[in-house]
Amino acid sequence: MSTNTVDNKRKVTTSRLIEMKQRGEKIAMLTAYDFSMAKLIDEAGIDVILVGDSASNVMAGNMTTLPITLDQMIYHAKSVIKGTQRALVVCDMPFGTYQGNSKEALASAIRIMKESHAEAVKIEGGAEIRESIERILTAGIPVMGHLGLTPQSINKFGTYAVRAKDEAEAEKLISDAHMLEEIGCFALVLEKIPAELATKVASELSIPVIGIGAGGGVDGQVLVMHDMLGINKDFSPKFLRRYADLSTIINEAVGNYINDVKNRDFPNENEQY
Ligand code: KIV
Repeated sequence: MSTNTVDNKRKVTTSRLIEMKQRGEKIAMLTAYDFSMAKLIDEAGIDVILVGDSASNVMAGNMTTLPITLDQMIYHAKSVIKGTQRALVVCDMPFGTYQGNSKEALASAIRIMKESHAEAVKIEGGAEIRESIERILTAGIPVMGHLGLTPQSINKFGTYAVRAKDEAEAEKLISDAHMLEEIGCFALVLEKIPAELATKVASELSIPVIGIGAGGGVDGQVLVMHDMLGINKDFSPKFLRRYADLSTIINEAVGNYINDVKNRDFPNENEQY
C-alpha cells in the first residue's frame, strides 16, 4: 500500500486545484496512458493524471512527441478515463492539432473531450497560440498551459537542455504565464527551467503552477510515470527521482517465468483444469 496522505475520495476538479494552491497544498500529477496503470495511480491518490503526448516516446517508441496523432491520444485518454474515479484527467493536444488555426484547435479539443471524456486539455506554448487557447476556452473546455521546455518544439530548440536561462527568454516566459492566466487557463506546467524563475512565476500567478525539473517552489510536481517507476532506465535527467526499479523487477519475474516454463515447472497440478 502507498503511504500517501490523501484521506478522501472527493473528485478532483479544476476549481479544487485552485483551492489547493490557496491552501498551500501541493498537487501531485503523473502521466498515464492506459486503463490498468491509471486505476493503480488513481487508487494511490494521485491528484491529476496527464495523458501526456510522452505516450509517443514511452508507449510507441518514437524519438520525439511529434508523431503521435489525435486519434492515438484519444485512444489513450479513453482508456485512462475508464480507470479513473478521483483524479482530474488532462489530455495533451498533440503536435499539429492546434498551431495552424484556432478553428482547427477547437475542433481537435472538442474531439478529445467528446470521444475520450477527458476533463481538460494541455497545450504547449504562449503568445503564438493565444488565439487557439482562447477559442478552446470559449467552448467551456478547461486548458492547462505548458511553458519552458516544450518538447513539441524540439526541432526549433535543437536540445532538451534547461530553458529560459537568459533574461530575454525568462521575460517572455513570465509574460506568457501571465497571459495564460488572464485568458483563463486553470493551471500551468513549467518544464525544465531554473527553480528561481519557476518560484517567481508561481508566486505571481493565482492559478496552480506544476513543475517538472522546475524546483520545489511551485504548487505541484509532475513526472512521467515510466521514468519515476524505473520502467524506462535510459532517461536519467537530474530532476528525476526514481521511486521504484520496475525494470529489474519485471526482468527478474519474466526470467523466472521463462525458467519455470522451460523446466516444466509451470503450470503445476493446481494450475490446470
Ligand atoms: O507529455 C508529457 O508527459 C508532458 C509532461 C512531461 C509534463 O507533457
